[in-house]
Amino acid sequence: SRALKPVVSVAAQNGAKTFSTTSEMQIKVAVLGAGGGIGQPLSLLLKHNPLISHLALYDIAPFTPGVAADLSHIDTPVKVTGHKGPEQLGDALQGSQVVVIPAGMPRKPGMTRDDLFNTNASIVRDLSLCIASHAPEAIVAIITNPVNSMVPITSEIMKKAGVYNPCKVLGVTTLDIVRSSTFVGEINGDDPRCVKVPVIGGHSGITIIPLLSQSQPPCKLKDPEKIDTLTKRIQEAGTEVVKAKAGFGSATLSMGYSGARFTNAILRGLKGEQNVSECAFVKCNLSEAEYFATPITFGKNGMEKVLGYGKINDYEQKILCAAMPELLKNIKKGVDFVKKYD
Ligand code: NAD
Ligand code: LMR
Repeated sequence: SRALKPVVSVAAQNGAKTFSTTSEMQIKVAVLGAGGGIGQPLSLLLKHNPLISHLALYDIAPFTPGVAADLSHIDTPVKVTGHKGPEQLGDALQGSQVVVIPAGMPRKPGMTRDDLFNTNASIVRDLSLCIASHAPEAIVAIITNPVNSMVPITSEIMKKAGVYNPCKVLGVTTLDIVRSSTFVGEINGDDPRCVKVPVIGGHSGITIIPLLSQSQPPCKLKDPEKIDTLTKRIQEAGTEVVKAKAGFGSATLSMGYSGARFTNAILRGLKGEQNVSECAFVKCNLSEAEYFATPITFGKNGMEKVLGYGKINDYEQKILCAAMPELLKNIKKGVDFVKKYD
């Protein structure tokens, strides 16, 4: 049958070795917020991932079963189920090894990511409570903004439930890396897929710290003013999209792509592949902040190793120092939000 044939995977196209067959992998992935601007293209891409056996789509939107029915007609072996409303969340989560969360409100022009806190904090809290009870072992990838505060919220909820594993709560910052590769690729005249730029700190405005000095191949810009302009463009790239969409949301397609790439890294780690790495906003000891975006590797348990960020130049050190108060404030806001409910 088709399900037993080896499949040349998206993972393989991205450089992963193809030593699996679809029948070997039994990984259920739940997408919470699957009906949204990010959720739909993300789910479309995940439907094509041969490392996934079951994709559970959850949203409060009434059309969620329709999104699942639509995707289920695509001729890949991934089983798709739709789950709508809180009473069906448990079913979506049961047995999931990976949970991806793009649920929540996006920005409108003039808003900061922190302005989303009041709405999105309770959404992520409630979803996390249900993950803690129905899929306590799952690796959770959080896309919802503000990421700098949502990762602490999920972590605190997991701690309270006694199921916290810091290696399994990951904030998704991949879009910052994708953008940096694109912009440096354009400047250098290089294929952006071959450009690697680590981005550290957090995921909002000045907390986004692209390490252009570590770009591989090196960024051709040498003039400090131009480096500063490029750094600010990367920091404000989300706002660039919000403005261009003129009130109709924020980045969805590039985020769908980035979320699928990040999920694929988690899956490759789960499968036992070595040295799979991406940046992510995670619990670590790299700075005075409890959570920090850094290159990491993935393994059977989610995050395997914090790779850290190596040597940074004076300019990068300066913008990192400038970012720390904001990052610490964002993290504290998330932690305090959960403590309030003690
Ligand atoms: P959207 O409004 O298009 O979709 C959000 C979806 O979440 C909707 O379908 C909505 O019904 C659903 N939802 C709301 N409350 C829910 C709940 N309690 N449970 C399940 N689903 C719920 O928004 P979007 O453009 O998809 O953006 C989603 C989030 O992702 C926003 O917070 C946005 O800021 C963030 N985002 C993050 C990044 C990143 O790099 N991490 C990039 C882009 C957007
Ligand atoms: C992004 O970077 O595009 C997202 O965080 C969405 C936003 O609000 O900018």
